[in-house]
Amino acid sequence: MITILFCLLFLRATLAYWPLDFLAEKNETVSPGQTCTCEAFLPDTIFPMGELELLEKSSVQISHKLELEISKIEMFEIKLTIYMEKIMNLTVLIGIMENDPDSYTEVQIQEVKIQIKQIEALIVELQASIEISSTVLVSIRKEIIAMIVILTELETTYDKNLVLLTRREYIKLQQKLEECERRHNEIFNPNIGSCDHGFISRLSKPMISHLNAHLNAGHRYGGWGKDSNPLPGYENMYWYSGSSNTLVSQINVYADYYRLIMRQPMKTHDLYSSRDWRGLGNNYIVRGNTLYYQFREPFSMGKYNMTSQTAGYRVVPSASSRFSYFYSGSQNLDFAADENGLWVTYATEESKGKLMLGKIDEAAFALKEVYEMNIYKPSVGNTFMVCGVLYATRSIDIKTEEIFYIYNTHTKQESYVSIPFEKFQEMYVYLDYNPTDQKLYMYNDGYYVSYHVWFHQNKNKNKTELQI
Ligand SMILES: *[C@@H]1O[C@H](CO)[C@@H](O)[C@H](O)[C@H]1NC(C)=O
Ligand SMILES: *[C@@H]1O[C@H](CO)[C@@H](O)[C@H](O)[C@H]1NC(C)=O
Ligand SMILES: *[C@@H]1O[C@H](CO)[C@@H](O)[C@H](O)[C@H]1NC(C)=O
Ligand SMILES: *[C@@H]1O[C@H](CO)[C@@H](O)[C@H](O)[C@H]1NC(C)=O
Repeated sequence: MITILFCLLFLRATLAYWPLDFLAEKNETVSPGQTCTCEAFLPDTIFPMGELELLEKSSVQISHKLELEISKIEMFEIKLTIYMEKIMNLTVLIGIMENDPDSYTEVQIQEVKIQIKQIEALIVELQASIEISSTVLVSIRKEIIAMIVILTELETTYDKNLVLLTRREYIKLQQKLEECERRHNEIFNPNIGSCDHGFISRLSKPMISHLNAHLNAGHRYGGWGKDSNPLPGYENMYWYSGSSNTLVSQINVYADYYRLIMRQPMKTHDLYSSRDWRGLGNNYIVRGNTLYYQFREPFSMGKYNMTSQTAGYRVVPSASSRFSYFYSGSQNLDFAADENGLWVTYATEESKGKLMLGKIDEAAFALKEVYEMNIYKPSVGNTFMVCGVLYATRSIDIKTEEIFYIYNTHTKQESYVSIPFEKFQEMYVYLDYNPTDQKLYMYNDGYYVSYHVWFHQNKNKNKTELQI
């Protein structure tokens, strides 16, 4: 008897996740025109037409590459549908065989096993193709960003209007690339938004996107990420807030990833102008175009609505401002958002500094349920929520962090685990999960860092246990 665990989710688990982000390298690109020292006197004759022609040519080349990738993705989608159907058919067949094992000969059973092996081979092949395609997308993204850097430099040196046309071409390319990446993403991670999985099994290596928008490594306090429940039309928006201290005075929002990397905010919200809406501790979250954060004065949970540009606050009963996380002071209220909504962690004098978790009723902006954990908050690096489960981290050494504790709000059960992961820099003040892309966002000593998350697959869901 051989037990074969067969699973429709197998495909999804196998076609895991490849990083699309890259380590942005910034290097000075000097155009031939810029080497001329008398440009102020001869602006027209030294206008880099050659440079622009080159940019236009490479825009056409990039466009062709993207078309090719889109057609490949369409092919993956078709293949995937066929494999799924084959697996369905086999599952049905095996079910029939299981119910009536005596009617089938060894040869017939062997045939089914061979078919399973064939599908396995096809999946491995598809996986390899998707991996290659993913690498191509990363390199296209790099090419586009390099071209935009050149364009930006040309714009600062020469007439903006002349450069604008080429720039528009690149913006179109970015949009095409985003669409391509989105579809690519759907193929190898179709489970976004679903909680039909177990706890986290591991994290990817850290993906370092960029130094913060202030380009200042001294801005060690901050956060970045995406809206966990974006308003329609704001799905690609990113936000960033950073400072050299624990005060939270402003937040920048960017139309998309490229604007974030290019440091072109669509809006900077100031929390300290005619009134003082400043926060503390950098453990905020953006949800529904609203920043939820630790309000400074009075000590309470704050809510800054970026749509109406108004703030409000509410005191959390018995929350103490004495217990912070391990890496930074003033982190007394930590907000998190997951598939189930909005959460806040804190500690109280009564709990003697042990971690408390509150579920926030978003409409009422008040705690509706409270859970008490058995871990001492000051020993915790940070926490985040996924599917109603709290994950707490702690430091192992300067390069390594681990998820060491899990609290499941559905069962009210806790467990101690060890899921180590790599850090890029030692200290971090911000770590949160985003349910819209199942990624973890970390603000790591001034750098934008993210991780892909892998989950244990549920044993009892969509999985047929077969006996042959
Ligand atoms: C940046 O440019 C310099 C000089 O051209 C070169 O030596 C260096 O390798 C480049 N760095 C990167 C990261 O491309
Ligand atoms: C699955 O079974 C159906 C009905 O027997 C058949 O028409 C179809 O071609 C099969 N699909 C694959 C991919 O083998
Ligand atoms: C933010 O303000 C807008 C406009 O007043 C309102 O429609 C929206 O519901 C508010 N959002 C939250 C989360 O309070
Ligand atoms: C199994 O997967 C199919 C197709 O993806 C879905 O329609 C069905 O609801 C799933 N069943 C369970 C128990 O999750």
